[in-house]
Amino acid sequence: KGCKLVGCGSAIPELRISNDDLAKIVETSDEWISVRTGIRERLILTGKESLTALAVEAGKKALQMAEVDPDDVDLVLMCTSTPEDLFGSAPQIPKALGCKRYPLAFDITAACSGFILGLHSAACYIRGGAFTNVLVIGADALSRFVDWTDRSTCILFGDAAGAVLVQACDSDEDGLFGFDLHSDGDGQRHLNATIKANEVDQALGSNGSVLDFPPRSVSYSCVQMNGTEVFRFAVRSVPQSIESALKMAGLTGSSIDWLLLHQANQRIIDAVAERLKVPPEQVISNLANYGNTSAASIPLALDEWVRSGKVKSGHTIAAAGFGAGLTWGSVIVRW
Ligand code: ACO
Repeated sequence: KGCKLVGCGSAIPELRISNDDLAKIVETSDEWISVRTGIRERLILTGKESLTALAVEAGKKALQMAEVDPDDVDLVLMCTSTPEDLFGSAPQIPKALGCKRYPLAFDITAACSGFILGLHSAACYIRGGAFTNVLVIGADALSRFVDWTDRSTCILFGDAAGAVLVQACDSDEDGLFGFDLHSDGDGQRHLNATIKANEVDQALGSNGSVLDFPPRSVSYSCVQMNGTEVFRFAVRSVPQSIESALKMAGLTGSSIDWLLLHQANQRIIDAVAERLKVPPEQVISNLANYGNTSAASIPLALDEWVRSGKVKSGHTIAAAGFGAGLTWGSVIVRW
C-alpha cells in the first residue's frame, strides 16, 4: 500500500504584531529582527481564541480540499508542544469536525519537528493497513510560553495551525518516498521549556520523602534557548538529514521541485538551501509574515504555496523540521 497527500489547510489568529510593536516592549528594532531572522511580523492568539479551534479550522480546510467527509477520517494526529489539555487535545478535533465514528486521535510532542514526525507516522499507519485517511495537524501557540521581557526569544515566535490529509493509495502512486528522523537529548540544554525544578523540590524531597503533603502542582518555565547553539545545530544537522532522505528516495537536491524547511530563521533556510544547491526560487519561505510557528510552520507554508498554485500536483518536496528535544527529521513527499 502507498500513501499520498490529498489536501491541506491552515488557520491563523487575528492579532498581528509587527517588529515595531515589539520594540515598544523590549529593547530591539525592526532592523535587528529582520536582518538576523528575516521575521517582520507574527500572529498571536488572544485570550478569546483557542489553539484547538485553529487546528479544527485548518483540518476542516484540508478535508474540504481533499473532498473527504469527516466521517471517513480514521486517525487525527495533533502535532503540538502547547496543548490546551495536558492529557492531549487531539480528541477535541474529530469532535469539533463532527466525525461520527469516534476516530483515534492523539497528540505528538516533538516541537518544531512534530509535523514531520506526524507525516511519517501517518504513512506508517496507512502502509501497515490500519487506516485509510489520516489527518495530520501541526499547531502551536508558543506565545503562551515565551518570556515577553526576553528580547532574544520573544521576537521569534508566532501562533498558527496547518494540516494535511494523508490518504491510502496504490503503491505505484506512493507520495512519501524518503525519510530521516533523529533526536539528541543531550542538546536539550540549548532549547527547552521544562517544569520548574524548584517547585518539584518543594513538593517532594530529592530522596523521594514527602516533605509537604499533598504535593503542590508545578508549572513550566518559559522557552529557554541558546540561539547560537541551536543555529549551529540546524545548519549542521538539517542538510545531512535531507541528504539521507533524498538518498533513500534516489534523488538529489537538484532533482526536487521545492525545499520546505521549518520556518525558524531565514539565515538557516538560506544556508541549508546553499549546501543542498537548491536555487532561491525553489525555496519556500513565509516566515517574514508569521515568525516561527513551531509544528505549524511547515503545513502553513505548504498550504500557502499550494493555494497560490506554485506547488502543483506531481511536484516533489523535501521537507525538514528541527528544534527542541533536540529533534530533527526530513521527509521527501510528492504533492
Ligand atoms: N534585539 C536587539 N539585540 C538583540 C536581540 C534583539 N531582539 N536579541 C539579542 N540581541 C543582542 C544580544 O544581546 C547580543 O548582544 P551582545 O553582543 O552585546 O551580547 C547580540 O544581539 C547578538 O546576540 P546573538 O544571540 O549572538 O545573535 P544571533 O546572531 O545568534 O541571533 C537568533 C539570535 C536570531 C536567536 C539566532 O541565534 C537564531 O535564530 N537561532 C536559531 C533559533 C532557532 O532556529 N530555533 C528553532 C527551534 S525553536 C523550537 O524548537 C521551539
